[in-house]
Amino acid sequence: MSLTGFGLGLRPDHYADILATHPAVDWFEALTENYLVPGGKPLAWLTRVREHYPLVLHGVSLSIGSTAPLDRDYLQAVKALAARVEPEWISDHLCWTGAHGLNLHDLLPLPYTEEAVAHVAARVREVQDVLGRQILLENVSSYAEFAHAPLTEWQFLSAVAEAADCLILLDINNIHVGARNHGYDPLEYLDGVPAARIRQHHLAGHLDLGELVIDTHDHPVADPVWALYAEAVRRYGPVPAMIERDDRIPPLAELLAELDHARAIARHALAEAA
Ligand SMILES: [Fe+2]
Repeated sequence: MSLTGFGLGLRPDHYADILATHPAVDWFEALTENYLVPGGKPLAWLTRVREHYPLVLHGVSLSIGSTAPLDRDYLQAVKALAARVEPEWISDHLCWTGAHGLNLHDLLPLPYTEEAVAHVAARVREVQDVLGRQILLENVSSYAEFAHAPLTEWQFLSAVAEAADCLILLDINNIHVGARNHGYDPLEYLDGVPAARIRQHHLAGHLDLGELVIDTHDHPVADPVWALYAEAVRRYGPVPAMIERDDRIPPLAELLAELDHARAIARHALAEAA
């Protein structure tokens, strides 16, 4: 896993532009579920992008926290996609998305207990066995918490990563959103995560309603998230980072400018830390 630098979420709106202009992006993150149909048009686009850029795969369907059995067909499809496009790594979310055959299409938080750590870690190990590689798990945004939660969110994330021997995709925006919604200290969160396991950062925009902050991915990255990203770089060094935009997707040039801003912040934070 030697990927470095700054990436962008690969979105269909930008396929043609990327292939025509070969922008200065170090890698792209493709949404796994968009490319699982062999022979489809999306896979043809992805294959062409892959000819010019390293890739990572980011999924939303693993439902690693669920009590339903792991979806073996899904895992085999992900494995086949990985064999085809050779991603540097594969990530999904530390959450659950449904149970009893019902998919809620939402990334739901888990109870932060030792029992849940053991449950999730066993499932991660199973996934890693099938895929034949370590995976990255991402911290999600949440709007509610379980009353019974002896662990903090960051203790839970860290414990799962240690017990499963997996890696972490630390979403800086999600930490900010959680800190605002639940009232924890985002710096305590950063200090509580094992630096050696962090392989990637997400940076994204949110909707600030005052009482509630919603992880919408339809705005540019907000100033408090940039400030928190600088704190992350001071602590963890140059972890590969990327901008996630999923709605109201602007022209590629706008995201490239935002990525340059991320580069500048990281440069500054690294110089300060040196
Ligand atoms: Fe994210």
